[in-house]
Amino acid sequence: MDILFLSDNTAPADTRIMQAVADAGIGYAKSYGSDRWTEEAGQLFRHEFGENALYFPVLTGTGANVISLASVLSPYQSVVCAETAHIACDECGAVERFTASKLVPIKTPDGKLTPEMVEPCLAHIGFEHQSQPKVISISQTTETGAAYSPEELKELSDFTKQNNLILHIDGSRIANAAAGMSISLKQACQGADILSFGGTKNGLMMGEAVIFLNPELTESAKYIRKQYGQLFSKMRYVSAQFIPYLRESIWLDNAHRANAVARRLAEGFTEKGISIKYPVDGNAVFAHLSDQQIERLSEKYLFYVWDKTENLCRFVCPYTADESEADGLLSLL
Ligand SMILES: Cc1ncc(COP(=O)(O)O)c(C=O)c1O
Repeated sequence: MDILFLSDNTAPADTRIMQAVADAGIGYAKSYGSDRWTEEAGQLFRHEFGENALYFPVLTGTGANVISLASVLSPYQSVVCAETAHIACDECGAVERFTASKLVPIKTPDGKLTPEMVEPCLAHIGFEHQSQPKVISISQTTETGAAYSPEELKELSDFTKQNNLILHIDGSRIANAAAGMSISLKQACQGADILSFGGTKNGLMMGEAVIFLNPELTESAKYIRKQYGQLFSKMRYVSAQFIPYLRESIWLDNAHRANAVARRLAEGFTEKGISIKYPVDGNAVFAHLSDQQIERLSEKYLFYVWDKTENLCRFVCPYTADESEADGLLSLL
């Protein structure tokens, strides 16, 4: 059974990243982030995102989201997000548990929020009987594979500023978004205050980061990270991965490859008359297959039947895949 399209987490770590981890394993180094790899990775993040960017390495994407949000929320406040957001669907209630705040999920056509969708949630600001919206959290790319353009991000960030809110981006797949739009990582999160920066889905062995883009929000972050068990003592091994990832543009090469396979898959589905539900801006394709097609593909491939009511199937392309593998899947149809 071929599992490559099940998730981008199925891929092995990039050998260049593994080499960086091995190279960091020589000699003694100060622990808990006081090491030279963490210093260097921090500089590279500043180079990428601007001089004010503050880098907090963590181990998981869920951890990055929780630390991002817990650092700025009080328990009476809430987070507005899409109803498909990973924080709302796939983190076992971690944000609610660790922040004691409420999530306010909104129905969207493609996983993307707009100011118009968020506006009604702000109707009760100042009214003590309702939790108080403080953060808008969006995913870049969304869980359904669409990306926010810089213009869409600007609209949202202007809206958050006008309303004294904070914009958080779950950038678990920000590399795919930036590569797909041929823009920089910074442009792909333009206007955000806090970014959960993904690495593991795009070639790292294990490593994500919280990047504070708004330095005014960082006061509690280091304490929260420690309390929530994400201050890794041998931090050098996480940071060492980000060095070649950013310096050698591994993020871009890998994301380009994954996105190209997704585009090939989407084109092939379309050529065969199969409808694609969401924009394919990154490395995920959501297609409506017939019962017969699902049965046929399932003989050889594992993939998610995302929504049984409409036979909507999810294919996520890892960076290690190539277009001939997409053709292999398509040939079964
Ligand atoms: C959009 C998004 N955010 C966050 C995560 C969380 O990552 P982790 O599984 O490392 O906690 C994922 C993982 O699938 C994801 O797809």
